[in-house]
Amino acid sequence: MRLPLHHNNTIQYPKHQTIQQNHPRRHSRLQLLVLISLTSFASSGESFVLDSILATTRSKAASSSCFLTTTLSMTSPSSKEHQGDNTDQSISSISDNTMNARPSSSSQSWRSLLEISMAKTRKIRGSNYVQLATVNTSREPRVRTVVFRGCLTVPKDHVLSNTCHDTSSSDNNPPLSCLLKMCTDARSQKVEDNANQSTAELCWWFPKTSEQYRIRGELILVGTEEDDRALTIARKELWGNLSDPARESFLDATHTPGQQWNDSHDESTATIDIPKGGRDDEGKVVPPPDNFLLMLLNPSYCDYLCLSGNQYRQIDVLRNGQWSWQRVNP
Ligand SMILES: Cc1cc2nc3c(=O)[nH]c(=O)nc-3n(C[C@H](O)[C@H](O)[C@H](O)COP(=O)(O)O)c2cc1C
Repeated sequence: MRLPLHHNNTIQYPKHQTIQQNHPRRHSRLQLLVLISLTSFASSGESFVLDSILATTRSKAASSSCFLTTTLSMTSPSSKEHQGDNTDQSISSISDNTMNARPSSSSQSWRSLLEISMAKTRKIRGSNYVQLATVNTSREPRVRTVVFRGCLTVPKDHVLSNTCHDTSSSDNNPPLSCLLKMCTDARSQKVEDNANQSTAELCWWFPKTSEQYRIRGELILVGTEEDDRALTIARKELWGNLSDPARESFLDATHTPGQQWNDSHDESTATIDIPKGGRDDEGKVVPPPDNFLLMLLNPSYCDYLCLSGNQYRQIDVLRNGQWSWQRVNP
């Protein structure tokens, strides 16, 4: 819902409640509050924009991608010609129109944007396949597809705690964890790469919404040796949540990634000693093997590109535990 300033220097509210700026009595608390809020946000030249995004991403209705953009715009008379296209729309008609719209300013962090992108596409097969790039010992790039398996929430005082607060954070909608979960085999090349250079970048393209996220940070591998309780629990949980075939693939001790194929991998013999579905006789999931690693990307940078509607690009940076973001030219 957009609430632009009218050409006659008034702020248009829904249901046609209008506040005259030159009216001393109505020029009151509400406007002062707006002004105070606005000054705490980024301002450029004569225009200030505050976007408040309500995203219902974690509810069941999330897949309908229902989010409402509230924009309070205030401009000086000299820039008023840029305003005033959609002044009289009701909340319902505007929220319908903005179902697929993006905010007009950088009020949302990459993490909130990602939450919306995921909600919009989570029913699409393959929408959680991401490309993960590492650097090998020869300082050459290596990239491969892996499955994104959600975000890990760790206690606030945990060394890996990395959360993002922005306009969609509230009591009902707490800060979002930025720790990205994946898993891999300890014997794979990326693990060797990681020992040499732990910075990695993940590229995620959402075809439905025409968005790209390039998320960079430290790649952390969690195996059996891990002594951090939260991470050990997270590894076990992820193991339990894998599909049966995925668990089986980690339990095939003869199947070392990258090693030469031989007949022992023939289907008739390969799975003989592998617990079916990674479960015991009672159907309980067996413990994770040593080669199963929880792989976490702890981001410190995100380059977001939106190619739908008003194309824009946003750079988010983590400094001293705080995320900040700004738009740049696409
Ligand atoms: C759709 C798809 C999903 C994949 N998911 C994973 C995964 O979650 N973890 C993983 O280690 N490899 C996954 N792979 C395999 C990797 O792309 C890659 O071949 C493998 O990890 C070995 O890579 P590396 O030798 O560079 O370490 C997936 C491949 C495809 C095509």
